[in-house]
Amino acid sequence: MKKVLVVGSGGREHALVWQLTCSPDVGKVYCAPGNAGIAAIAECLPIKEDELEKLAAFAEREHIDLTVVGPEAPLCAGLVDVFKTRNLAVFGPDRKAAQLEGSKSYAKAFMERCGIPTAKAAVFVSEEPAAEYIKAEYGAGASQIVVKADGLAAGKGVLVANSCDEALEFLHGCFEGTFGNAGAKVVIEECLLGEEASILALCDGNTIVPLVSSQDHKRVFDNDQGPNTGGMGAYSPAPVVNDAVWRQIENEILQPFLKGIKQEKLYFRGVIFVGVMIHENRAKVLEFNVRFGDPEIQPVMRRFCGDWYDVLYKTATGKLSEAKLVWSDKAAVSVVMASGGYPGSYSKGKVISGLADAAAAGSVVFHAGTASGDNGEIVTAGGRVLGVSALGDDIAQAIKNAYAGVEKISFEGGFFRHDIGAKALDK
Ligand code: AMP
Ligand code: GLY
Repeated sequence: MKKVLVVGSGGREHALVWQLTCSPDVGKVYCAPGNAGIAAIAECLPIKEDELEKLAAFAEREHIDLTVVGPEAPLCAGLVDVFKTRNLAVFGPDRKAAQLEGSKSYAKAFMERCGIPTAKAAVFVSEEPAAEYIKAEYGAGASQIVVKADGLAAGKGVLVANSCDEALEFLHGCFEGTFGNAGAKVVIEECLLGEEASILALCDGNTIVPLVSSQDHKRVFDNDQGPNTGGMGAYSPAPVVNDAVWRQIENEILQPFLKGIKQEKLYFRGVIFVGVMIHENRAKVLEFNVRFGDPEIQPVMRRFCGDWYDVLYKTATGKLSEAKLVWSDKAAVSVVMASGGYPGSYSKGKVISGLADAAAAGSVVFHAGTASGDNGEIVTAGGRVLGVSALGDDIAQAIKNAYAGVEKISFEGGFFRHDIGAKALDK
């Protein structure tokens, strides 16, 4: 029987672990460091995601057959490089290829070389010319400009600015060190209009295979109000990605991406998450991530019906063309329940009740920020706390089923969006 190690501690990792435990060949799943929900189905290890040498030493000692990396930080720090030197099978791109997420200017230049459609952009390493550029863009009639810190900034490094002053203030913050080194370089982009979707595609350097489409809800409040978050809920499939859009994405984004990976000899055996903006049936790339989207992967995992271990192992070992991806025709929805105050500051340690009732109502509840309390109860331990997921014959039914689960669960200060999936119903 196979042994798997999953690195990370959020809802994404819970969903990956959950699907891996369903694989017929998997005997044991470890998760480092995991959370209280993951601990119910896997063995959690006291190793943090940035302790690369410790993770590799564990994988070697325990003869782990496959390590799957959830978050971007260890990938950008070179986890795959460390594992490769020890000949350990690992799912993810190496440090160089992880720059597709770790550096927005690197990703932009890659897209340009590959001819992948994306927003017009300029890159700056000092404030003054960047400010001049922003003023010129607004002067020329732009009503919104997007300012991005180049490096990893925990999802906070992007501003869609509604005014020149707002853009300049954010820019100043970047160069003043608000995002540390991540803001020493800044990408300024044209603002794209349309509807966003998330395209996740497995890639082993020779083959690229998309998973089913999904859509996230990034703003914290209903009707896309309030600040951006890591994602407040997701559903799959996303009807905005219709057949024509899929074809365009395959031909103009995924195939050129694969060609670029080959031409530039990048080591990429993992998942590329392409955030796209779709307008008039055409997708343009907003960003690349080199990991599964969270919460997007939650509904996607609910719809997967094949052998997930086999698919990830084949991707990690360059045999993706032999993998079989099987999907349910059902729709899936995952609603995030968050701590009061998120995405700003929030308190932790609130007791969560109703988890068993939600499961009895047919939901699978993925834990994001949870921990075990002193008396065996489950308590909150993060901003995003849970992802309550359900299947349905169509999106409307899946929404109903997911919210039936949400209704059963409560914790002090907890909140959720009431309109997850609603955009799909309009179509
Ligand atoms: P990123 O981390 O680059 O995906 O940016 C985070 C979010 O900012 C995206 O999910 C979009 O909602 C928004 N965004 C980023 N770039 C653009 C753009 N060029 N036009 C419009 N919105 C954008
Ligand atoms: N849900 C967006 C992300 O994972 O980046």
